[in-house]
Amino acid sequence: YTYGLYGTPTTLELAARVCELEGGYRTLITPGGQSAISLINFALLQSGDHILIPLSIYGPNRQFANHVLRRFGVEVSYYDPLLGRGIDELVKSNTKLVWCESPGSITMEVQDVPAICEAAHAGGALVVLDNTWSAGVYFDALAHGVDITMQALTKYVGGHSDLLLGSVTVKDAAAWEKIGSHQQMLGCAASPDDCSLALRGLKTLAVRLSAIESSALRIAHWLAQRPEIERVLHPALESCPGHEFWKRDFTGSAGVFSIVFRPDATKLQVQGFVDALRLFKIGYSWAGVTSLAVAYDMSRGRDRNNYQHRIVRLNIGLEDTNDLIADLERGLAAAS
Ligand SMILES: Cc1ncc(COP(=O)(O)O)c(C=O)c1O
Repeated sequence: YTYGLYGTPTTLELAARVCELEGGYRTLITPGGQSAISLINFALLQSGDHILIPLSIYGPNRQFANHVLRRFGVEVSYYDPLLGRGIDELVKSNTKLVWCESPGSITMEVQDVPAICEAAHAGGALVVLDNTWSAGVYFDALAHGVDITMQALTKYVGGHSDLLLGSVTVKDAAAWEKIGSHQQMLGCAASPDDCSLALRGLKTLAVRLSAIESSALRIAHWLAQRPEIERVLHPALESCPGHEFWKRDFTGSAGVFSIVFRPDATKLQVQGFVDALRLFKIGYSWAGVTSLAVAYDMSRGRDRNNYQHRIVRLNIGLEDTNDLIADLERGLAAAS
């Protein structure tokens, strides 16, 4: 150990454990998930390069591409997350990186990651995947062809919505050298105190994931029967786009999913549903112990499936499932 920026016993211990979970060659710990995203892009791209990003990507990842990468002369294109092998038509001679996020943020499309990797690799591009939803546990991304994964450890690894951390896991020494040196040049190191909280979070990750998975599944199936709901976007349900890829490639499901209200639901009704919930709080820091609900308005049509104002993302926490269902029932009654 020579200097905090280059790794402390605590940060390197967390890195080693996340690396083991993800089955990688090495892992780097960053101050947050978003800094893991920017670090990967800064390390691997240069002016004149082209990247492909799914329309369902986490919003700030898109903003980094639009406002920073483009400013530095990187060409940015977006693709339908369900494109699969068909992405080969979008891979160009200067395509260096293909981003994936599976399932996607909010709209929850599960991607055909092996097919995308095959097409990207044939065109000479690397594939990087945001593996936050699966906690690096339910989807073995590197074994499915991905070259680099990142996670917001802020979410399931931290597990209590009280820290910010990220990870970048690589498959080989070449990516390790490149991204590792950029981490130091960018000064993108995490605090060991935060890492010690994440190490504590890892001790309960398995039991939290298992409790959250079964609660979320019960709630998702309950919501699917409700007349107010048109569609439940939970990867383990057939109603979720790309469900077949979840079934083929994942070993379980997490606690974040979305619901789409029927076409006649007004914005006021959807907001009324969220406002009437008591156990579900309004918040972005998902994957913690507290259940959350956030209504989104996609009327600007940036996404493949334009659910407009009718989509609400839920995070299932560790409250009693019956209490959560009673809370949702209260919300639905308020909405109608
Ligand atoms: C899918 C996904 N990736 C990355 C991030 C960014 O993580 P952080 O908040 O730790 O910067 C988030 C945060 O919400 C996320 O949901």
